[in-house]
Amino acid sequence: MQGSLPQLVDADWGTFDPWRVRPVTHRLAEHRLLKIAPLIDLGRRLEAVGRIRTHSSDAYAGTAFNHAPMLYPNGKSAAETLTDVAHAKAWTSLLNVQTDDLYRTLVDEVLDDVKPQVDRVDPGMLYRAGWIFVTSPNTITPFHMDKEHNFILQIQGKKRLYVWEPDDIVTLTEEARDLFHHNHSRDLVVWSEELRARAHVFDLEPGMGAYMPSTSPHLVENGDGPSITASFTYYTDATRRNARLHTLHHRMRGWGMKPSPVNARPLLDSLAYAGCKCTDAVQTVIDRTRGRQKLSDTVRYAHHSIA
Ligand SMILES: [Fe+2]
Repeated sequence: MQGSLPQLVDADWGTFDPWRVRPVTHRLAEHRLLKIAPLIDLGRRLEAVGRIRTHSSDAYAGTAFNHAPMLYPNGKSAAETLTDVAHAKAWTSLLNVQTDDLYRTLVDEVLDDVKPQVDRVDPGMLYRAGWIFVTSPNTITPFHMDKEHNFILQIQGKKRLYVWEPDDIVTLTEEARDLFHHNHSRDLVVWSEELRARAHVFDLEPGMGAYMPSTSPHLVENGDGPSITASFTYYTDATRRNARLHTLHHRMRGWGMKPSPVNARPLLDSLAYAGCKCTDAVQTVIDRTRGRQKLSDTVRYAHHSIA
């Protein structure tokens, strides 16, 4: 195996496959920035710029993830919630912590640690981001998916994490992933209790975690105490390619076509992706001449507008 071995996050790096769910362990449970006092301060800073996502403990597995904050609002401030999270009856996510000067160092500390091993099989790590979840007892993160590859690490407390493979089209249809990449809609993400039998189940305690590839559906059930969990995420050359092909397939469906799932026909995918890159290059030139600028996903850190 080439590349230096990570010191903070352990996995079976020799068999690491960027498109397969797997367990990891880590040494971040006692990190000074992941204690509740600095997280309360971070919560105040992020709330001032609109980077808190929160809902009450009434949300359930099948709650529409995008709408949970509106359907089940948590009326307290981030600082109030985090100060007494044991009784707050709330789920709080500190979003895009890489936008905070102090916490950007934590995001880099973790992702620089794993990068040599990730790069061996999945180059192009960019668009780094960090997300810290502070959760009251017996509270659920509804079933959903995200676009990024994700190292999710349990820092304090216990929770049960359900994760499904990113190519499991029984759990989540190809159309759902196409639409999600097209406009970030999770409207085709539909929960069913029978899905639990298809999931990888991780009973997480401090020092434990998991690697979840891009668009792996997941559901989190907190234990009977407060919990702190941190996610470190990124895009790679492969996730950008995958996202672009799903977006193309969404458009093809709109034209009445029925594209094969992404990666089912590698040669066709390669040709389609080459065409997409040409189209994108032309569009970039047009946008520039019209004074429009699209946010790039090939920058070191994720933009704060994406949640
Ligand atoms: Fe998530």
